[in-house]
Amino acid sequence: MGVMRIVIAGKPGSGKGTQAALLSDRMNIPHLSSGEILRAEIRNATAFGKEVQEYVRRGEIGPERLITSVILEFIERKKYGKGFVLDGFPRTIYQARELDRRFSPSLCILLTLPDETIFSRLPNRLTCTACGRVYNVRELLPEREGRCDGCGSELVHRIDDRHETVERRLEIFREESAPVLDHYRRSNRLVPVDATHSPDAILRDIIKALESLELTNPV
Ligand code: AP5
Ligand code: MG
Repeated sequence: MGVMRIVIAGKPGSGKGTQAALLSDRMNIPHLSSGEILRAEIRNATAFGKEVQEYVRRGEIGPERLITSVILEFIERKKYGKGFVLDGFPRTIYQARELDRRFSPSLCILLTLPDETIFSRLPNRLTCTACGRVYNVRELLPEREGRCDGCGSELVHRIDDRHETVERRLEIFREESAPVLDHYRRSNRLVPVDATHSPDAILRDIIKALESLELTNPV
């Protein structure tokens, strides 16, 4: 079995982080979220964090060359040598081409769902300020109120989950991601998956798609 490199794409709030975490556990390959990397840099007030924080707050795409080199540097680390589940990257055609040049993904799973579902999910999301794990106040509550089950840190509503910012993020997704999805479609690597079901049902569909492409590790 070769190196398994999977990209999970989809609108903001489509469940990329949720599915990437499930898939990472199931397939035993590490999960890398560009949004989490940026939020951690902002929290730690690094020079890079300061450079990107306004963009992230507004839901915009920041300095793409800089962001691309930071993410590619992460992938270069030993941990990702056997592959990765990448969530939130690539977001632009520039990023997709750079990723192909260095660590060409085997496939891109596209989570599909209508905007209404996103507008009903995102106001209910809680995100861990330390490890990025996601919850929601409807069906996936933490054991201890306001605290992450995994690391015990504080759970918050993300600053970019305000209604207007979600609208802006959706608009940017439509503009910037269309060429990225075309890029994967043209190279026969795009696998759309209906993301309106339960997380477990979606995971099953993703695994089925991987099996049909003979991409699952016999672990
Ligand atoms: P990023 O963090 O990637 O945000 P996003 O793409 O907007 O996606 P989200 O994390 O909001 O949603 P998700 O798809 O992960 O859904 P989740 O699993 O949490 O990026 C944030 C910002 O960083 C960008 O706006 C940009 O500024 C910057 N950035 C990031 N990457 C960049 C890049 N490559 N280049 C430049 N800038 C970049 O699920 C959402 C909610 O729904 C949760 O509450 C969850 O519990 C619930 N849920 C999930 N699945 C289900 C289900 N099946 N049924 C019911 N509820 C569900
Ligand atoms: Mg996410």
